[in-house]
Amino acid sequence: MNSQEPKTKVEDNLLRPSSLSDYVGQTSIKKNLKIAMKAAKDRNECMEHILLNGPPGLGKTSLAIVLSNEMERELIKTTATSIKRIIDLMSLVMTLKPGDILFIDEIHRLDKRIEESFYSVMEDFEIQIVRGGGRNIKAASIPCNPFTLIGATTRAGLLSKPLRDRFGLTFHFQFYSLDELIDVIQNVAQRLELTITKTEALEIAKRSRGTPRIAIHLVKRVRDVATVYFDHKIDRETLQETFSTLRLDQNGLSDQDRKLLLLLYQKNGHPVGLNTICAILSEDRTTLEEMTEPYLLLINYIEKTPRGRVITKDGINYLQSNGYAKQQLNTSLGLFS
Ligand SMILES: Nc1ncnc2c1ncn2[C@@H]1O[C@H](COP(=O)(O)OP(=O)(O)OP(=O)(O)O)[C@@H](O)[C@H]1O
Ligand SMILES: [Mg+2]
Repeated sequence: MNSQEPKTKVEDNLLRPSSLSDYVGQTSIKKNLKIAMKAAKDRNECMEHILLNGPPGLGKTSLAIVLSNEMERELIKTTATSIKRIIDLMSLVMTLKPGDILFIDEIHRLDKRIEESFYSVMEDFEIQIVRGGGRNIKAASIPCNPFTLIGATTRAGLLSKPLRDRFGLTFHFQFYSLDELIDVIQNVAQRLELTITKTEALEIAKRSRGTPRIAIHLVKRVRDVATVYFDHKIDRETLQETFSTLRLDQNGLSDQDRKLLLLLYQKNGHPVGLNTICAILSEDRTTLEEMTEPYLLLINYIEKTPRGRVITKDGINYLQSNGYAKQQLNTSLGLFS
């Protein structure tokens, strides 16, 4: 048995950027944010409410943290599903100090009644409460301190228009370029005290699906393989072993992506509905819509049509040229194993 105490696990939070200068990419968002921050500081006002929209892992939460650091304001973090009743909303909002930043993750999941109560909170900084019913109905407005709401969502389309309209600033996140991912990877490597050359960082970046969270996840897997098999050394061989263990190809596509492509390929160009895909692949809708599909759409391997998903010429070419097209789609036996 190892008698040494285990070292403290490096917290994911330590890998997050803490200032705008650490925050890689999203140039247009950063430019707009800098103007809004400076204007608010000069006028000594709260920033307007901000909506952050984009696929998982692209840096929405990290940006909210960066913003609170840059503005030197306290950040209060919560998720929409934990605000179930008006009383939850009241106790959250009433405790905010002037200028605080309230971050609500997954804001598209707000309960409809709570969402309606938010309108007056966002606009006039007061909570409207209606008590009783019929002739005894009583309405009251309770003021709260002015604050900035940052809402994050992976599904801005699900937000009602009145809610969307109350955000002064809306930012849409873009997938990261290879150079940006190399920066993310090398910064993280430095914080984890790993040596990863630019050539190796590029190989990891290529498999990161344009997403910093995946890039960081891969760096940690590479570190594990280096620890177990290669005496902590990270080189080409370490990467090859890691990618083959994870069954990732040169684009970062996994078995689940290939199953989806093969399913669409076997339908000979007929669109396949999301429910059918979920049933055949035994996958839940959110994972498919938010994790699997966006990258396949980005690299133009699939298309969304009103009647369902179809595979593109590029997608077909990928399956055929890598020898996947002839495989049988048999999920119970495990594809590509
Ligand atoms: N622009 C960036 N620069 C450096 N690191 C980043 C950047 N964006 C994200 N990261 C890293 O990627 C990880 C995931 O980012 P984050 O949690 O902010 O994503 P998210 O958009 O909030 O995802 P989700 O929708 O799942 O909540 C973070 O731990 C952070 O370290
Ligand atoms: Mg987040």
